[in-house]
Amino acid sequence: MSDGRAWPDEPDADLVEAVAGLLDAAFEREGRPGVLPIVQAGDPVLRRVATPYTGQLGAQLPRLVEAMRRTMLDAPGVGLAAPQVGIPLAVAVCADPGVPGDAREREPLPFRVLVNPRYEPVRDGGTPERAAHYEGCLSVDGWQAVVARPRRVRLTGRDERGAAFDEVLHGWPARIVQHETDHLAGRLYLDRAEPRSLASHENLTRFGAPDAAAERAAVELGFPLPS
Ligand code: NI
Repeated sequence: MSDGRAWPDEPDADLVEAVAGLLDAAFEREGRPGVLPIVQAGDPVLRRVATPYTGQLGAQLPRLVEAMRRTMLDAPGVGLAAPQVGIPLAVAVCADPGVPGDAREREPLPFRVLVNPRYEPVRDGGTPERAAHYEGCLSVDGWQAVVARPRRVRLTGRDERGAAFDEVLHGWPARIVQHETDHLAGRLYLDRAEPRSLASHENLTRFGAPDAAAERAAVELGFPLPS
């Protein structure tokens, strides 16, 4: 940041101690160092509005980001929000290698950190264009459901160094950042999903390639494809 000071507040000693303890245990673990346990649906931490990050973690923030990156890749997943590892701060990570030619516009999303992110649909003169696809969450392990989301969004927030960003994303990267930003508002994708589309990972393979599964599932499970 131009003012030379990334975050306005001093570290919160109690929070620093709690997070350092959690991270020490994770990084000292043998086998998968840095991998944190992922909280599952039903834990109230997933339903709270995360506290905006203003510097509470001090030097622990880079360590937390690294542990979240390792946890996301280990799962494996393409995004992870701090409440999913039990920390109620507005920090998330995401990364997706992408799938060439995928009809969901699954373009590569290089690893990045979202601090205090916000998004809004981008309108091209009229109603925002939406896309409906199957979506899952590491905190709702084993299941996926169809969610209609804006195809293009404007994303604002800060990176892990405190630098502000303001950009437009579309396709699958836009879906990922919406999903993670929703976590920080206490929302799960299920809140926005078509209930009859709910499918286990195993049953989802009935509906063919992932980028066409929503259309086939709509017919076979009997739900209107959301738009
Ligand atoms: Ni999730």
